[in-house]
Amino acid sequence: MGLITIDESKCKRCGFCARACPVGIIALSEGFPNSGYPTTIEKIEKGCITCGHCVAACPAGVLSHRGMKPEACPPLEAGWRLTPGQVGQLIKGRRSIRNYRPEPLEPQVIDELLDIVRYAPTGMNTQTVSWKVILDEQEVQFLSLAVIEWLRTLEGNQVHGGKGMLKAWELGQDPILRKAPALIIAHGAADHPMTSASAMIALTTLELAALPFGLGTCWAGFLHQAAASSYGVATALGLPQGDRMLGGMMIGYPEFEYARIPTRNPARVTWG
Ligand SMILES: Cc1cc2nc3c(=O)[nH]c(=O)nc-3n(C[C@H](O)[C@H](O)[C@H](O)COP(=O)(O)O)c2cc1C
Repeated sequence: MGLITIDESKCKRCGFCARACPVGIIALSEGFPNSGYPTTIEKIEKGCITCGHCVAACPAGVLSHRGMKPEACPPLEAGWRLTPGQVGQLIKGRRSIRNYRPEPLEPQVIDELLDIVRYAPTGMNTQTVSWKVILDEQEVQFLSLAVIEWLRTLEGNQVHGGKGMLKAWELGQDPILRKAPALIIAHGAADHPMTSASAMIALTTLELAALPFGLGTCWAGFLHQAAASSYGVATALGLPQGDRMLGGMMIGYPEFEYARIPTRNPARVTWG
């Protein structure tokens, strides 16, 4: 069986599959678009990244990839794009949440959230980001403490705001993970060239995807910095051998809602 199969009796020969393929594996059997049936160029088939664009672009739903059947790819619902106003409110209305209700999160909610986030773009469709979810508030606190202990070992102000965080900790606050009830850590192989950027994108997607669930998030930047610099913190994370933390997000139900959108700098743009 070839990499792709098509039902020729239903193929509209639109050529969208060939145009959508990012690695140019699909050609039309005769002539140019709107004439031939799609077929793969065998000698470059191994360059396929299984992104599924050929299956997803086919308006007739008659192209099947060896690793992806059209039946496994649900059709998009009408109106899925939302309006610029709706998306603008979602993006502008998101805030870093640093005050959480002391309410545990159900694993099912995180499952649902990560099931959405796995569709975020990944370099070359590598999908190499893994997740560690901590739903135990005590365990989150334990990680904050590990960061604080690392900060205590540093001389001077090696970490921006380090002294202030130590002071806040002594006052019973948690400036590291903000007493969040849960934490989501993105991790992956330390040496994979695409994984770091893919993890950042996944976490950014997660921040926005969390909003309709009523959840709030905040980047765990200090934990990330500490995990990269401190063996103690990296060990406390308990990630699989060979993996490192690529980013993390505190998550929970916000204690209060924001009523306004704060101002931000205008976009710095040069028009070429
Ligand atoms: C990479 C990154 C790391 C961050 N780390 C932390 C952190 O460790 N603790 C924290 O309270 N906020 C952290 N933040 C949140 C920023 O302070 C916040 O995005 C910024 O102040 C703007 O506020 P907004 O997210 O509500 O628009 C981080 C944000 C980013 C993008």
